[in-house]
Amino acid sequence: MTRIIAPSILSANFENLEESCKLINSSEAGWLHVDVMDGVFVSNMSFGFPIIEVLKKHCSKPLDVHLMIIEPDKHIERFVEAGADILTVHYETLKNPNHTLQAIRKHGVKVGISINPDIPVNCLRGLVKQVDIVLLMSVFAGYGGQKFIEDTWCRIDELKEIISAENENCLIEIDGGVNEQNASNLFNHGANILVAGSAVFNSPDPKAIIHNMLQ
Ligand code: DX5
Ligand code: ZN
Repeated sequence: MTRIIAPSILSANFENLEESCKLINSSEAGWLHVDVMDGVFVSNMSFGFPIIEVLKKHCSKPLDVHLMIIEPDKHIERFVEAGADILTVHYETLKNPNHTLQAIRKHGVKVGISINPDIPVNCLRGLVKQVDIVLLMSVFAGYGGQKFIEDTWCRIDELKEIISAENENCLIEIDGGVNEQNASNLFNHGANILVAGSAVFNSPDPKAIIHNMLQ
């Protein structure tokens, strides 16, 4: 079973992104998670193309780009050019989900779809067969450092049912409030990719946290 830790650069030290990338490169992290926020879909703003280009330059791991923006269709090409290896869009932002998911696929990157904790998992029926990854938010999108929402456990079960009916290859990614305490239970429950921001970067020993989460 695939088990990947994807540290979120949102919680890293932006004064020295190269250093943060080197740390990730030398760790057991599988991907680097890159949170793009527009101040509209979510109230927070993060960064855009230039920062992703810097991350691409210095990070040897795949860039897992999580778009928390409205009208993502407009920018797919530029995110791919900037260095995205996985491009995840929010279901809530899509006017025509089939169209957007196919457009991402055409650009040759992995395709992800995400939902916030208040969106029924059932909405993803018919879409799971078109994606490589479903990113279930385990906090409301917008900020790092929030508390894991316990309802996520049931939502993973619901998603597993849809995956077994539609697309056995689809991976489950969990984002928000993941830490050393819940990581192994999440993997055992069926999650394949765990995003961790504050748990990794607020630690004095990020590499040890990543290692421990994989145990
Ligand atoms: C929240 C972001 C997350 C965030 C996770 O909107 O999607 O990726 O960086 O941060 P932690 O791990 O601190 O909850
Ligand atoms: Zn994220």
